[in-house]
Amino acid sequence: MEGGYDDRDGKIWMDGELVDWRGANVHVLTHALHYASSVFEGERCYNGRIFKDREHAERLHFSANCLDFEIPYSVDDLIAAKAQTLEANGLTDAYVRAFAWRGAGPDMGVASARNPVRTAIAVWKWGNYYGDAKTKGAKLDIAKWKRPSPETIPHQAKAAGLYMICTMSKHAAEAKGCSDAMMFDYRGYVAEATGANIFFVKDGEVHTPKPDCFLNGITRQTVVGMLRDKGITVHERHIMPEELEGFQQCWLTGTAAEVTPVGQIGDYNFEVGQLTLDIASDYEKLVRA
Ligand SMILES: Cc1ncc(COP(=O)(O)O)c(C=O)c1O
Repeated sequence: MEGGYDDRDGKIWMDGELVDWRGANVHVLTHALHYASSVFEGERCYNGRIFKDREHAERLHFSANCLDFEIPYSVDDLIAAKAQTLEANGLTDAYVRAFAWRGAGPDMGVASARNPVRTAIAVWKWGNYYGDAKTKGAKLDIAKWKRPSPETIPHQAKAAGLYMICTMSKHAAEAKGCSDAMMFDYRGYVAEATGANIFFVKDGEVHTPKPDCFLNGITRQTVVGMLRDKGITVHERHIMPEELEGFQQCWLTGTAAEVTPVGQIGDYNFEVGQLTLDIASDYEKLVRA
């Protein structure tokens, strides 16, 4: 049986070389551990091919730049390193976590320009993020935390600091028997779940929040394209909480979530309808194509 995530067999790519899984450690005075100077990617490899490999490597660079640091490996270096890590672990179907952070160094205050930027890639087998909700429809809580204003945090980055309120919201949701929580934004509009974007269906048309204060997911962009290719109207717009009552279907998108139907958000119920099932199956085919 596999142990915790720090106690497994295998290799992790760290700063240019493969190291033993259990030896992939950092010092406790790592800047990122104290001030969240860390960015990451979540990716999935299907049949030996990472879906949107380059887009994820580019986003990792973009996120690091948002946090004022530069990853010392190019996009092509990262793509090669991800392939090397998958091969070293003998995996063709896996979750891929690439990440970069400010390490330990001369600075231990808020500023960290002199500390080295560290980079790592770990891969592991990961099934459905929401377990059997993938087929039955997930039950979502409504988070008390709000997605913050773009003036308060770099919302387009996939950065550790943005996840503090997501973890707290998801803990509260799980304590109520829910799979996840839907978050409103600082203005009160529907935003997203704690690690996935959200879509709604009403009378054959699709409505999804405009990503102006949260991550515009790679899966979200892919699914919007797939819907438009099918000739379905997609409205990317601000969605008011009272509109939830009128939506018939709902699903989440994300690299980990893939396309997961939602059956309930708070007191609102949704059917796992045909369009949801079609999009989930089209996405499944696309990532394995
Ligand atoms: C907060 C948040 N929103 C949305 C997403 C979906 O992004 P993507 O489709 O790029 O995985 C994720 C997952 O990475 C996320 O963590």
